[in-house]
Amino acid sequence: MKVLILPDQQAAVQRAAEIVARTVIAKPDAVLGLATGGTMLPLYDDLARRHRDDGLSFAGVTTFNLDEYIGLAPDHPCSYHHYMRETFFDRVDIDPARTHLPQGDAPDPRAASLEYDALITAAGGIDLQLLGIGQNGHIGFNEPTASLGSRTRIKTLTTDTRRANQRYFASFDETPRYAITVGVATILEARKCVLLATGEAKAKAVFGMVEGPLSAVCPASALQLHPRATVVLDEAAASALE
Ligand code: F6R
Repeated sequence: MKVLILPDQQAAVQRAAEIVARTVIAKPDAVLGLATGGTMLPLYDDLARRHRDDGLSFAGVTTFNLDEYIGLAPDHPCSYHHYMRETFFDRVDIDPARTHLPQGDAPDPRAASLEYDALITAAGGIDLQLLGIGQNGHIGFNEPTASLGSRTRIKTLTTDTRRANQRYFASFDETPRYAITVGVATILEARKCVLLATGEAKAKAVFGMVEGPLSAVCPASALQLHPRATVVLDEAAASALE
């Protein structure tokens, strides 16, 4: 695991965006695994700016997002489908037909999860998987104690995660309890992983991921097994490292 510590959030975001941009320049038909959440907002801004100002093209790129809330239709304003359109897809030249997210409102979410893994395989696998980290050490919505051998499936969200995400919903009760998430084993199959974490609130989880034991208690620690994982941090997120 390569750990890059940048002086501040802006520098960390720029470095992560540069890794994505380089991947797309080197392989215009790259398959990207994408994440959502607050950490990724400035990164998608940076990529949209590179498209606008530098001509970075996503026209040949295929994307697979990590997760979606169960019960939310793609046009729900709190869905990750909506987040991705607003923050990234509608701002670049990506072909919407090549963008994929788990179907949160599928009549059979279990079958939809299995199909999602099959779609990733059919696309040739993920070239670059972008990841954030939850304060509890989750990646995607693989919450603590998620099997490190897991595939895309339904996960119950912890109370901590629902509290962290409550800010997007009208109330805690309206914050979804379940999500479809790409599994830890599926994430580890990506040819390269880049995890971006910024801010002091992530310091404890970052310590668990980088210096803690390999354990399902901190699912992000599974990245220790990945031969090409890069963790991009600002100083605040790195502040608990030895
Ligand atoms: C969402 C995802 C999550 C987030 C994590 C951090 O697609 O994969 O693992 O990356 O919850 O979220 P923020 O950035 O909001 O702290």
